[in-house]
Amino acid sequence: MRIIITDSYRQMGREAANMVAGQLYLKPDSVLGLATGSTPLPMYRRLIALHRSLGLDFSEVTTFNLDEYVGMAPDNPQSYHYFMNENFFSKVNIRPDHTYLPDGMAEDLEAEGHRYDALIQQKGGIDLQVLGIGQNAHIGFNEPDVKFEAITHCVELDEETIRANSRFFQRLEDVPRYAISMGIKTIMMARRILLLANGANKAEAVRKAVCGSVMPEAPASILQLHRDVTVILDRAAAARLP
Ligand code: F6R
Repeated sequence: MRIIITDSYRQMGREAANMVAGQLYLKPDSVLGLATGSTPLPMYRRLIALHRSLGLDFSEVTTFNLDEYVGMAPDNPQSYHYFMNENFFSKVNIRPDHTYLPDGMAEDLEAEGHRYDALIQQKGGIDLQVLGIGQNAHIGFNEPDVKFEAITHCVELDEETIRANSRFFQRLEDVPRYAISMGIKTIMMARRILLLANGANKAEAVRKAVCGSVMPEAPASILQLHRDVTVILDRAAAARLP
């Protein structure tokens, strides 16, 4: 693992965007794995700025997002489809038909999981996967006690995750209880992984991911077994590293 500690949330985003841009300069038709949430926002902002100022080109890029809430239609403002359009896709020259998220409205979620993983492989596999991390060390929505061999599947969200995500909803009861998420196996098959974290509330999860025991109770710890992981942190998220 390569660990980069930056001075701020914004700087974390800039470093991450530079890595994504470097990937696209080397391979313009890269397949990117993307995350939602607060963590990658400065990275998306910087990528949009690079697109506008330097012409960073997304026209040949394909993207696969980690997850979507179950029962959430793409045009629902709380959906991850909506989040990605709002914060990134609509602001760069990516082709809408090259952007994929799991279908939270699928009737057969197990079949949808298989379809999603097969589609990733059909597009050549993920070149660079961007991840955030939950306070409970989840990646995607792979909650503690995860099965490391899982592909994209339906997951029941932890109470801690529901509480953390409630900041985006009016009431706690409105937060969906289920999501469809890439599994650990799907994530580990990416050629390169970029894990981002900011803030003191992520420091313990980062410690578990980087130097804790590899165990299903800390899903992100599996990343220690991947051959190409870069971790980009702000100082607060790095505070518990030795
Ligand atoms: C989002 C995702 C989650 C988040 C994690 C951190 O697509 O898969 O694993 O990355 O919950 O969320 P934030 O960045 O909002 O703290």
